[in-house]
Amino acid sequence: MNKQTETDRIIIFDTTLRDGEQCPGATLNVDEKLIIARQLARLGVDVIEAGFAIASSGDFEAVQKIAQNVGTEDGPIVCSLARAIKKDIEAAAEALKPAARARIHTFISTSDIHLEYQLKKTRAEVLAIAEEMVAYAKSFMEDVEFSPMDAVRSEPGYLYQVLERAIAAGATTINIPDTVGYTTPEEFGALIRGIKENVPNIDKAIISVHGHNDLGLAVANFLEAVKNGARQLECTINGIGERAGNAALEELVMALHVRRNYFNPYLGRPADSEEALTNIDTQQIYKTSRLVSNLTGMLVQPNKAIVGANAFSHESGIHQDGVLKHKLTYEIMDAQSIGLTNNQIVLGKHSGRNAFRTRLKELGFELSETELNKAFVKFKELADKKKEITDWDLEAIANDEIQHTPELFRLEFVQVTCGNNARPTATVVLRTPNGEELTDAAIGTGPVDAVYRAINRVVNLPNQLIEFSVQSVTAGIDAIGEVTIRLRHNEQVYSGHAANTDIIVASAQAYVNALNRLYTAKHKEKASVNSSELTLPKV
Ligand code: KIV
Ligand code: ZN
Repeated sequence: MNKQTETDRIIIFDTTLRDGEQCPGATLNVDEKLIIARQLARLGVDVIEAGFAIASSGDFEAVQKIAQNVGTEDGPIVCSLARAIKKDIEAAAEALKPAARARIHTFISTSDIHLEYQLKKTRAEVLAIAEEMVAYAKSFMEDVEFSPMDAVRSEPGYLYQVLERAIAAGATTINIPDTVGYTTPEEFGALIRGIKENVPNIDKAIISVHGHNDLGLAVANFLEAVKNGARQLECTINGIGERAGNAALEELVMALHVRRNYFNPYLGRPADSEEALTNIDTQQIYKTSRLVSNLTGMLVQPNKAIVGANAFSHESGIHQDGVLKHKLTYEIMDAQSIGLTNNQIVLGKHSGRNAFRTRLKELGFELSETELNKAFVKFKELADKKKEITDWDLEAIANDEIQHTPELFRLEFVQVTCGNNARPTATVVLRTPNGEELTDAAIGTGPVDAVYRAINRVVNLPNQLIEFSVQSVTAGIDAIGEVTIRLRHNEQVYSGHAANTDIIVASAQAYVNALNRLYTAKHKEKASVNSSELTLPKV
């Protein structure tokens, strides 16, 4: 095997900020992308796909900022997606310039159905484009990844040919996407094996896999691909992404960790080797999951493997009895291995700023001085209401603080009257983007409805509320409530998140946060009417 591409471990390529961000409502602004990228670096991913530089000026800026701030010498490789088109590749190369280690990921479809109906090109034409554009990307940097889109539904003989030519033109990673989430584990494993056996220069490139979860098989497909020679996995935190999402990073990593003795021989290691199969610091998994969920507004289902609220709780009496006697009777992994703390009571009313800062640091939050000041005020307010502050409370406060929703409309005041013999009525005071303070009131079917109606009267951005959820951060009557909402406006979905011990205040704040995102998007829309060349359909 070629030395440069030799690997006896699994490369984790995170595409949360590119493919993950493509799910409706998960749109992140540049600052939020940077926060997630920093956390992905702490998590230990090898490659961050930071965006699709040509897609919009926001995407370009995000790739550039991540390249600048996270793409350090000892940081992850920073990557940008680019269609097999010169101007895409040029934009990717330009945005990636500040990164110490950069990668262009270029792609073109190879399945007949895509060629005939979408690209309207022949196989020979696509073959030539793939070769030419990989070479073009190579003229900017050494590290080039090539994806034959819809590889799973492409004719294998043709796929081998395209891959051979892409590698000959300089691709160092060839990525095999299951774009439509169609394949099954055995079939996907055979495809990877077929590529290893039939692409003559395959030893000069890493085989990567990328897949969507339409049939709920993405993770299983990837694990079979590993057994057959794939060494890079493209995945997202919490499995977010287009339609049913992408393969979930935390599931792949923990499967490779918990079952390392099973997978070791496929990577040429002794079965009993305890050496990690990935570079991921598994203790950062839970925190990364929470951060991505809070910033994207994409909730994690309670029964989700690894990071769901119920993933480590036992309801059945028999299970509880077993776990109390010996943990391993019903647990295959330790909650602490993914960074779930014991929810210990850590701080209280009398805790000072230093103790607060130190504990946040221990939990992995690096807040700026301004963020810390604001978070400390919230902590003190909370400590007045709640005797014991746990790690989970602190995490909710910190996550709330690092949200970078632009504060265009600011909630200054909210008051509600409700009860079994009252008509729910809300009064709100909002500061508008031009500094005016406006007050309005409304009656609703319930307190939240009344608050949202009152806010609508001030903000006046018609929308449809499509999701509203309240979750308690800890147990207990005085717990913080986290509200996540999603609303729709002109076919676009916007999310908002907020935490407070008063769930009406959290509901109002979450709604204002979502409206601020909508407002920002509308203003951007206006600004880019004349630059429609840059606005691409997402892949
Ligand atoms: O799903 C897909 O095919 C993709 C490619 C751009 C890799 O996201
Ligand atoms: Zn994809």
